Amino acid sequence: MALLKPSKFISSVGSLTPSLATLPIRSSSWWTEVQMGPPDPILGVTEAFKRDTNSKKMNLGVGAYRDDNGKPYVLSCVRKAEALIASKMLDKEYLPIGGLGDFNKACAELALGPDSEVLKSKRSITVQTISGTGSLRIGANFLSRFHTVARDVYLPKPSWGNHTPIFRDAGMQLKAYRYYDPATCGFDFTGALDDVSKIPEHSVIMLHACAHNPTGVDPRPEQWKELSAVIKVRVTVAVIYLFIFLYFIPPSSFHILHYLLSIAKIMMFLLNSLNDKILQTVDLMLLDIFLSTHSLQKRKLLVFFDMAYQGFASGDIDRDAWAVRYFLEQGHSVLLSQSFAKNMGLYGERVGGFTVVCADAEEAKRVESQLKILIRPIYSNPPMNGARIASTILSTPELRSTWLEEVKGMADRIIKMREMLVTNLKKEGSTHNWQHVIDQIGMFCFTGLKPEQVERLTKEFSVYMTKDGRISVAGVTSGNVGYLAHAIHQVTK
Ligand SMILES: Cc1ncc(COP(=O)(O)O)c(C=O)c1O
Repeated sequence: MALLKPSKFISSVGSLTPSLATLPIRSSSWWTEVQMGPPDPILGVTEAFKRDTNSKKMNLGVGAYRDDNGKPYVLSCVRKAEALIASKMLDKEYLPIGGLGDFNKACAELALGPDSEVLKSKRSITVQTISGTGSLRIGANFLSRFHTVARDVYLPKPSWGNHTPIFRDAGMQLKAYRYYDPATCGFDFTGALDDVSKIPEHSVIMLHACAHNPTGVDPRPEQWKELSAVIKVRVTVAVIYLFIFLYFIPPSSFHILHYLLSIAKIMMFLLNSLNDKILQTVDLMLLDIFLSTHSLQKRKLLVFFDMAYQGFASGDIDRDAWAVRYFLEQGHSVLLSQSFAKNMGLYGERVGGFTVVCADAEEAKRVESQLKILIRPIYSNPPMNGARIASTILSTPELRSTWLEEVKGMADRIIKMREMLVTNLKKEGSTHNWQHVIDQIGMFCFTGLKPEQVERLTKEFSVYMTKDGRISVAGVTSGNVGYLAHAIHQVTK
């Protein structure tokens, strides 16, 4: 029997009665229990912005770089790499599960540095991922499957909004450590050290390598050093160990120095002056001597670095990777997520990398095999176009140097906009201390504006941003910075 054409079938059923015709379709729905979900907080801002007809409207919600005319920016090194790739008439075969080999090599080298001991000893594995988000999710899945000794992932408070669902959906549990101090709009170093030193052993700690999102607040190098030391050895454990050591080991000149520094540190700790510069110096010296003389390599916490902005923070790729490289030098075995969305402007190409640093090359091979097993049923293998662009830029000397200039150009424009915003706020007559706008780094600035002030900015001035007062400085231009300063002054005076 010939099958009825769908159109015939519908028209013949429709000719009965409308209710009868639609009833079977409605009652057969599988999704009646599905509730309407809330809109994404960041993409929701963009939707509202699009509907606004004010010609002065500004979208400072989304984290994408704009040039000084407020237009999306495609780097010239990207255009050149695309032309070069097109001229080679390459095929479009599947990539391997772990992605483009040349890209993975260049990606790891960019983060770890060309002289990295980890790379030389081949004790890391890097796979190409679907940008930073995909990298974090592969990392989260990997932890969920293999880091069974602890389920807790500690995020800085606050952290990038997507961190929580990424790790939660992978079956991990989310906890937080203090990071941002609303009183100073800066880093809560004391709070962070205190919280980190209490994190249960073997937990995962998430660190933003540079240009912390959403706050724009990064630890200084000496603060990173302290964090590294505390993450490796708990302070309380260190102090207990110190006393045991002082009791049982006869003092030498080195030990006496160690002893004096310990006493100084403990006294200052008791005086609760942990923020004190002197304490930080003494503390660092103590920890350095302590660790170097006792080769204490206990890896208490598993460090997961998210590096979505290498080069974007300071304009210098090596400076922005400093914390990752320092932690590796200190013997941490880190997980690392990288994105090329911001620093190469490859947002929609979805280019990223996930690296696991292992104890040795043999372990790295085993980890690689399991990463492939994880990836294969999710997306089989990653897309090739963006990875080809990134790896061409990184491995062609001329394109690489153009890129380094361009990434610095983007970072410098952002730094200049921060300064211009503060200058204009002062011109408007604002008496608030806006120094944090200059001190914070990277694409985002945590302005310190309260939700009701943010609401007024949007309603009265068509300035759009997330409710937490975060602005994407990349969306500010020399043409609209004056208007923004005026608007901010009106809602904060
Ligand atoms: C901290 C952080 N991590 C990761 C990402 C991932 O971005 P993408 O998936 O676009 O590479 C972002 C993007 O905003 C971010 O801010």
